[in-house]
Amino acid sequence: MKLEIEPFPSCLGAEVRGIDLSQPLTGDNRAAIEAAIARHAVLVFRDQPLSQDAQVALARGFGPLDLGLKRVKKTVSRFRHDELLDISNVDTNGEIAARDTRRIVGNLANQLWHSDSSFQKPAARYSMLSAIAVAPQGGDTEFCDLRAAWDALPEDWKREIEGREAVHYALHSRFVLGDTDYTEAQRAELPPATWPLVRTHPDSQRKLLFVGAHASEVVGMTLAEGRMLLMDLLEHVTQREFVYVHKWQPGDLVMWDNRSTLHRGRRYDLSIRREMRRTTTLDVDGDKQAATSDTVDECAHQTV
Ligand code: OGA
Ligand code: MN
Repeated sequence: MKLEIEPFPSCLGAEVRGIDLSQPLTGDNRAAIEAAIARHAVLVFRDQPLSQDAQVALARGFGPLDLGLKRVKKTVSRFRHDELLDISNVDTNGEIAARDTRRIVGNLANQLWHSDSSFQKPAARYSMLSAIAVAPQGGDTEFCDLRAAWDALPEDWKREIEGREAVHYALHSRFVLGDTDYTEAQRAELPPATWPLVRTHPDSQRKLLFVGAHASEVVGMTLAEGRMLLMDLLEHVTQREFVYVHKWQPGDLVMWDNRSTLHRGRRYDLSIRREMRRTTTLDVDGDKQAATSDTVDECAHQTV
């Protein structure tokens, strides 16, 4: 089978065919997928139902794996591996979770635009989300292109924010949703991480605007002014022209680059089962600032 990559019209995202992800990844296929994700940021693989073991094996091929908040929460899992994150409205007994549980708050927090694990170091590099049961209505996942958003930012905004850093805090999105009941000890286990607002994507050398729901303040600004700036920037990067909307079918596997995109789930009826499993690699060298070069691909200056 020959790997085929068909870019979506918008420049963000591509569909990948000609591969069976349940089989061990060859070196050539891994390199081709990494080259494709460096460029397109979101890769869609249709008809790839994966066992739990196969999903973990696939993800390990791309680097060491992230445990997300399980690192500190140590919750009981329905799955065979800690590295499988349960992105569902289902409780540990396999029943639809009650609406007032923390699992559902976590699920709803995924509906805020974010980059996975940006609240920690290392943060997330690639996430792989496998669809088991999809919502009959709603429940799409949207992705936005942080590189195209940077390119389109007015020059005075670029000057204003270059060199600035934002604090990313794990519980910020939970607080926004009214879930504030955490002990001092729990809070102490989740120190915030700081990232530049303007970063360079190391695999494409393109600049990007790094914001999202975990960003809670801007270093050196008052809380109020920093938050307004973050809200303004989030509004900019999530304009429709930078967004790809994924409509799920069972068996889809969507892989995205958390360094160059944000994503969010869309609302769906929480009384109907929606089940996804995620594996995520750690961005081990994410703290190293990549050199920016002047060579950009044809998507870089696309007028929007
Ligand atoms: C995730 C996530 C959104 C969704 O799995 O990281 O944010 O649509 N999911 O389930
Ligand atoms: Mn996510």
